[in-house]
Amino acid sequence: MGKDRTGKKQDGKDRTGKNRTEKTGLEKDRTGKNRTEKKYPPYIPSSVPFLGQAIAFGKSPIEFLENAYEKYGPVVSFTMVGKTFTYLLGGDAAALLFNSKNEELNAEDVYSRLTTPVFGKGVAYDVPNPVFLEQKKMLKTGLNIAHFKQHMEIIEEETREYFKRWGDRGEKNLFEALSELIILTASRCLHGREIRSILDEKVAQLYADLDGGFTHAAWLLPGWLPLPSFRRRDRAHREIKKIFYKVIEKRRQTEEKEDDILQTLIDATYKDGRPLNDDEIAGMLIGLLLAGQHTSSTTSAWLGFFLARDRSLQDRCYKEQKQVCGENLPPLNYDKLKDLNLLDRCLKETLRLRPPIMTMMRMARSPQKVGGYTIPVGHQVCVSPTVNHRLQDTWTQRLEFNPDRYLGESPAGGEKFSYIPFGAGRHRCIGENFAYVQIKTIWSTMLRLYEYDLVDGYFPTINYTTMIHTPNNPVIRYRRRDQH
Ligand code: HEM
Repeated sequence: MGKDRTGKKQDGKDRTGKNRTEKTGLEKDRTGKNRTEKKYPPYIPSSVPFLGQAIAFGKSPIEFLENAYEKYGPVVSFTMVGKTFTYLLGGDAAALLFNSKNEELNAEDVYSRLTTPVFGKGVAYDVPNPVFLEQKKMLKTGLNIAHFKQHMEIIEEETREYFKRWGDRGEKNLFEALSELIILTASRCLHGREIRSILDEKVAQLYADLDGGFTHAAWLLPGWLPLPSFRRRDRAHREIKKIFYKVIEKRRQTEEKEDDILQTLIDATYKDGRPLNDDEIAGMLIGLLLAGQHTSSTTSAWLGFFLARDRSLQDRCYKEQKQVCGENLPPLNYDKLKDLNLLDRCLKETLRLRPPIMTMMRMARSPQKVGGYTIPVGHQVCVSPTVNHRLQDTWTQRLEFNPDRYLGESPAGGEKFSYIPFGAGRHRCIGENFAYVQIKTIWSTMLRLYEYDLVDGYFPTINYTTMIHTPNNPVIRYRRRDQH
């Protein structure tokens, strides 16, 4: 019996030794004759028409996929709400998605219906991928170290200001607080002074309505349905763009140039020399803010709960602040932030156990071969960081929160694509460095302000109903550190 390139058994049987319910298909050659037999990935059967596995998956997607991996191996298909999904589980199988061309495994086909109504036309998944790649490059130019140094000052200041409302001790919803704080810091850092200065409750509500576009409903239901959430999203989109146009217009007219990301976009040109128009800039500003909003606020909240659960680790992180920055804890700076290695590893471990993007998805536009199987056209091909990050075959003490695992050489046995919180390949995240700067600055400041505990030992369970897996009932107990 042979092993395929994923190293898994290829004997047509599942891991329990039973025969898999597997379909085969015949490929025809140009003369119309049957040539070779295709073997489709093992398919998880369901007796529920249309919905298929939606209920089992929706209840506990990670458990569902882990069981599927155990039973069927690294490539497995199933149907939900009339769509067929094929998951590539584990680093080897995932390579197909990360190494493929966008024309073969396509991102726009699956993401555009969610993102285009929110970001607008002419950007991201509304344009051919080579154009989006150019836009990503422009954004990346703005996400540079010189700007991060400015951002850190802003983030520390915003964080200190924000937590004044928490007083000396109490219990508060940590996720809510961090979501509010992150929109303030991201708006100031990624959009600039002018847009941050008009961020009041009304504008925050517009962002919330826009954000309401990122739901399972928006992804699954036709866009023309007159749902209130769709209407609110579309209205918010128009209103926010109007605000951004005014700011862009004003910037274009002022002589003195600011040194920030908005200015980078105003000055940027495509390869053919064409500058970005106001609509593209406004769309990219919305994209920048929202791409980092839930991802960073969920990650920051989970990090807080991991630290609250392990007081000795929290104390080590606080001591590290003093060791690296100085006993009297002066304002943070970029070089010192880099040297906060333990905090860095805690963030890295949070992203392992709670990666905010649970699934990356592509549409198979051509048949894809992997692990001895052929994935047919029309399947939604998926990789789950959450599953890869805790695979039994790859990680030791896989469910333990252990930031020191990264002190060794290669915590996942050097296996490629076993740690992918920011994706990989052509669609890889451009916000990783900014996210690290933002979250580390926020948590450095928060560690200096307070000590944290779980409330009556409760560590949040995971809310699987949202697209990004948020903590349930995320209330934390805090007490101001003795001032000395
Ligand atoms: C903890 C924070 C973040 C996490 C975990 C995260 C995760 C990811 C992942 C997994 C992808 C790949 C998606 C795919 O392949 O389908 C991605 C792409 C991307 N992210 Fe992030 N992200 C974070 C923060 C940010 C921030 C702060 C920004 C902007 C400043 C950003 C902008 C982008 C962009 C532009 C892409 C490219 C999408 C593409 O090319 O298809 N992200 N991110």
